[in-house]
Amino acid sequence: MRVRLRTPDTGEVKEMIVQRDVMPTMMYSARSRMGSLKDISPNRAVYYDSGLSITMPQSMGDVWCLNNAARSCRNLEGDIAEAGVYYGSTARLLMRFFDGTNKTIHLFDTFDTMPPAGENDIAEYWHPKTGLSVERVLALLQDYNRAGLVRTYKGLFKDTLHNVNDKKFCFVHIDCDLYGGCRDALEFFYPRVVQGGAILIHDYDTTAFPGILKAVDEFFAYKSDLRVSNRYGFHHVVVKR
Ligand SMILES: C[S@@+](CC[C@H](N)C(=O)[O-])C[C@H]1O[C@@H](n2cnc3c(N)ncnc32)[C@H](O)[C@@H]1O
Repeated sequence: MRVRLRTPDTGEVKEMIVQRDVMPTMMYSARSRMGSLKDISPNRAVYYDSGLSITMPQSMGDVWCLNNAARSCRNLEGDIAEAGVYYGSTARLLMRFFDGTNKTIHLFDTFDTMPPAGENDIAEYWHPKTGLSVERVLALLQDYNRAGLVRTYKGLFKDTLHNVNDKKFCFVHIDCDLYGGCRDALEFFYPRVVQGGAILIHDYDTTAFPGILKAVDEFFAYKSDLRVSNRYGFHHVVVKR
């Protein structure tokens, strides 16, 4: 359906095509619990202080899903981790959703060029990005870094994850697009997630990133944790039993 929304800044009314049943709820949640939207246009909305570029309704569904899962984990023991940070947009959202908990967020990425696609990935969807850096991410997170709550680990997951060997996690966000990174992150984090904690894997069951579905389904094939896909976004949510 077509939704008409008033842009907070200018009062301009714009239209957006959204899923009929859920989108109004998500828009309400987004504006009341997560802040306001700077701009909403038919194909593009920018969450006002995260730098997250929301280019389709599913992206708003991702924010909604991250927020809900984070709220469920706020009172659990353990830190937060993200494997696949890019410019830090979702890291900033997580800092916001866990604000007030004093939990440390551990951020893993090459913070440089992206790793090459492997045989389980579709290379044509995987475009090397430029301009990634730890400094850029820390600048985006600076409001939340005052208490030293942000730790960055630069390099391939397989070479950096050992730095948090001794940590427990209540919430892990895996958003790396590629089979190898997703497998490495799942193998490392799963045993370190506390009972009731969540692992959110982005791009599960998307045509562009088939390696993610393969890595997740292989890893959880013989496990009995609760697994739910958010059909209004791209996240697969695993709740550790
Ligand atoms: C889709 S972007 C992350 C987007 C970010 N979560 C957001 O929404 O703002 C994927 C990131 O994963 C990183 N990445 C993929 N595989 C990796 C690996 N094996 N080791 C380290 N970083 C990896 C890339 O460098 C890239 O920055």
